[in-house]
Amino acid sequence: MPDNRLSTLISEEAIQARISELGAQIRADFGSETITCIGVLKGSFLFMADLVRAIGGDVRCEFLGVSSYHGGTRSTGVVQITQDLRFPIEGQHCLIIEDIIDTGLTLDYLHRMLSVRGPKTLKMVTLLDKPARREVDLTPDYAGFTIPDEFVVGFGLDLGELYRNLPYIAVYHP
Ligand code: IMP
Ligand code: MG
Repeated sequence: MPDNRLSTLISEEAIQARISELGAQIRADFGSETITCIGVLKGSFLFMADLVRAIGGDVRCEFLGVSSYHGGTRSTGVVQITQDLRFPIEGQHCLIIEDIIDTGLTLDYLHRMLSVRGPKTLKMVTLLDKPARREVDLTPDYAGFTIPDEFVVGFGLDLGELYRNLPYIAVYHP
């Protein structure tokens, strides 16, 4: 049944085409190095699954659990680590994988937290970038799509834990 609160913003085909491009670009930039991909849970899980396949070569998959929202549609700015990395990243080429950058507070916090652990490289990729609401000066190394200031769901992004399984990105109209 169609859900009239949702309108498609980015189609499944467009997402997949962009992920292929990002993967090729990231692999070219890192050369033949092993890349430690650090997915920020839960929102990045679908993007990460497709991106690591598009990157190819030697990749490790690690996860960071973060909670910055508490069920609503506004970021609280308080970043809570619910699951830390299980291994040191010192000397490794790392790529933080996020679903969306909104205020930038989450990724800014994570970048500072991980950079003190001595990775050889620490880059950031986000599927979506919403620069209109940025509160910190943060530009990702790679971004899939720049989107307007709308609340979006799908392809890993949720509203109260729903909609993560949509294969496309939709604007949610309350
Ligand atoms: P930031 O700290 O404001 O940059 O927000 C980052 C986190 O807020 C993201 O990782 C998402 O989990 C969540 N978020 C921000 N905007 C949206 C949205 O439009 N839809 C769903 N989640 C969002
Ligand atoms: Mg997130």
